[in-house]
Amino acid sequence: MAVLVTGGAGFIGSHTVVELQNAGYEVVVVDNLSNSSPKSLERVQEITGKAVKFYEADILDADALATVFSENKIESVIHFAGLKAVGESVQKPWEYYHNNVTGSLVLFDVMKRYGVKNIIFSSSATVYGTPAEIPVTEKCPKGEITNPYGQTKSMLEQMLMDIQKADPQWNVILLRYFNPIGAHKSGKIGENPNGIPNNLMPYVTQVAVGKLKCLGVFGNDYDTPDGTGVRDYIHVVDLAIGHVKAIEKMKENPGLKIYNLGTGTGYSVLDIVKNFEQATGVEVPYEIKPRRAGDIATNYADASLAKEELGWTAERGIREMCEDAWRWQSNNPNGFEE
Ligand code: NAD
Ligand code: UD1
Repeated sequence: MAVLVTGGAGFIGSHTVVELQNAGYEVVVVDNLSNSSPKSLERVQEITGKAVKFYEADILDADALATVFSENKIESVIHFAGLKAVGESVQKPWEYYHNNVTGSLVLFDVMKRYGVKNIIFSSSATVYGTPAEIPVTEKCPKGEITNPYGQTKSMLEQMLMDIQKADPQWNVILLRYFNPIGAHKSGKIGENPNGIPNNLMPYVTQVAVGKLKCLGVFGNDYDTPDGTGVRDYIHVVDLAIGHVKAIEKMKENPGLKIYNLGTGTGYSVLDIVKNFEQATGVEVPYEIKPRRAGDIATNYADASLAKEELGWTAERGIREMCEDAWRWQSNNPNGFEE
């Protein structure tokens, strides 16, 4: 029996494939490579010594998915495939709703046809909007979401809840990620953003490697200890291991489950700059810029439910996240391109 990983060539997907293979699972990957390189899966193979069965296919293509389900004994699906750039989603809502929502519906339908009823879905802390309480528990109500990307996450959560309600044989685990950063220790796989990064850590590493001149810090007048935004950064390998724990949970037929995956600790933008500089010895010049629209002051998780029910906690600290992100970036200044 195999685990199907959609979006498995991407940042979180490739790290999850490594951890699944390390834990002894057979893995099948579907990815259309719209935001990734097939080299990531070659690197996964170098890390684990195991081949990855890969289908270059779009989740919108029901026939291609049917081929994957008919050629493999799929037991569970981990569904990462999706477009994820918040700003771009505001400009291109059509593409985001079609790719993320329609694509997922096609996938769910093919799963139903083949009797595969176990799914783990990549959701985001973005569904909490401005959280009603910090640290954020899973009981926090969903908040106002300001962009189409976040809407797709919230809609897909709802669709999967309704599917599980209609047919209780489905097991649905919604994982709400906080801010994944870092990279595999080997420096062989990591985050490979297209164009100028929107997220903090890839921007920091690209300044450090000399591709960008200076980090803009978006606001220093928030109600936080140093005035800059506070987030719950989580090492991508810890996040990947969280998925292996969720796959193990499937054996209990859990029905519907929702877990925050975060560390429970918040760091400010300037904490990240300082830790990065100390971990790597590389200076990161920065300047204070106006606040970014849609940002909130503070967001970090209460991750105790995942600890209780999945036996999972994030183990890698902020220094390690910075060191590993830097090893990946400095070894691969142009990502997977030669
Ligand atoms: P990523 O872009 O690196 O990976 C997504 C992968 O999905 C890519 O390899 C892309 O080529 C593939 N893909 C996109 N549309 C597809 C389609 N129609 N058919 C087949 N493949 C398709 O992103 P990531 O950072 O690894 O994120 C993985 C998932 O986690 C996404 O759903 C994302 O929204 C979610 N998420 C990410 C973060 C984060 O900070 N990185 C935070 C919360 C949630
Ligand atoms: C963002 C998205 C969120 C998505 C997540 C992961 C928004 C409003 N939220 O979260 O939906 O799930 O990415 O993809 O876009 N910062 C700077 N300078 C930069 C970049 C960021 O100061 O160049 C600051 C931000 O203001 C924030 C912190 O760094 O305080 C983290 O930003 P980022 O990495 O973009 O993550 P989020 O905004 O938390």
